[in-house]
Amino acid sequence: MKCLRIAVLPGDGIGPEIIKEAVKVCDSISKKFGHEIKWNYALVGAAAIDATGNPYPNETHKICENADAILFGALGDPKYDNDPTAKVRPEQGLLEMRKKLGLYANNRPTFVFPSLLEKSPIKRDRIIGTDLVFVRELTGGIYFGEKGTKENGKVAYDTCLYSEKEIIRLAKVGFDLARKRNKKLCCVDKANVLESSRLWRKTIQGMESSYKDIEVSYEFADAVAMRLIQSPNMYDVLVTANLFGDILTDEASVISGSMGLMPSASIGSKTSLYEPIHGSYPQAAGKNIANPIATILSAAMMFEQSFKLSEESQMIRKAVDLCINESILSEDLALSKNAYSTSEIGSWISEKILSL
Ligand code: IPM
Ligand code: MN
Repeated sequence: MKCLRIAVLPGDGIGPEIIKEAVKVCDSISKKFGHEIKWNYALVGAAAIDATGNPYPNETHKICENADAILFGALGDPKYDNDPTAKVRPEQGLLEMRKKLGLYANNRPTFVFPSLLEKSPIKRDRIIGTDLVFVRELTGGIYFGEKGTKENGKVAYDTCLYSEKEIIRLAKVGFDLARKRNKKLCCVDKANVLESSRLWRKTIQGMESSYKDIEVSYEFADAVAMRLIQSPNMYDVLVTANLFGDILTDEASVISGSMGLMPSASIGSKTSLYEPIHGSYPQAAGKNIANPIATILSAAMMFEQSFKLSEESQMIRKAVDLCINESILSEDLALSKNAYSTSEIGSWISEKILSL
């Protein structure tokens, strides 16, 4: 038996609803395997701004730092998106959290479910067998470089800066992951244009001799954007900078048929964080229609990576596979008259775990 301390940050929009289902599933797992979970709830995003004026309050940071893992919903609220003059924004909370917790590597998988191939916007024969993972750098690059405006706000700039140290620690995560998978690593950059990309390439080339069993390739980000649509099943692990990773992982996420299916892990120097890759989907908030599977699969990643409990993790994934095979699907994947609600899907998976 293990006692697991999990910080739960439901956030905004559909965040609280999908988190509730993931918590249900984790509770089923702890019942089945005799673990004890201590859930510690904390505010983040617009919910935290409304309550405290700060999108990532210090109290939330303390709860995260003292946890074994963090389960995160989503953040963002249209009332801030449509106000370019807003001084505080929910997204700042996420960026601050990544920085303060040192969450430097964002592991975002894309895989397909055989029974959902027809739901993909891409033809079936192109996506069969797709199983790739982006390892996106998350605490550096243009997101965090020097930025500002000049000439009375008529000129603005953002700087993309990377150190060799940052590239090495990120690439290590990618190489080690490739070693456990299909032993292929693709470095995605714009080394034909950007100085920082040339440092990425040089640094990763320098690491190749320590990973002789890994087949390393180098591709430009624009070409990867194209090949992700043409033949996503040729990739295994892709390592890339913050902004390229942001854009390409959204593109990759729809290959499975819905953004509501894909989980993610942000690995840090302290506590790691697990979250669905989709956003807060404010139009669906409170309607009990969102797909909870991405969050439930994020919990599966948490059991595997943070708690080293593989059997528990596999059981969550198995229950999710059964749920999808039996067409227990939410609105994003089913005709609305046949769709199941967020809570029905969470309950189905939780009960399935108890009967497996
Ligand atoms: C993501 C999101 C964030 C990002 C936003 C909300 C700041 O799009 O997690 O991919 O750009 O990193
Ligand atoms: Mn994004």
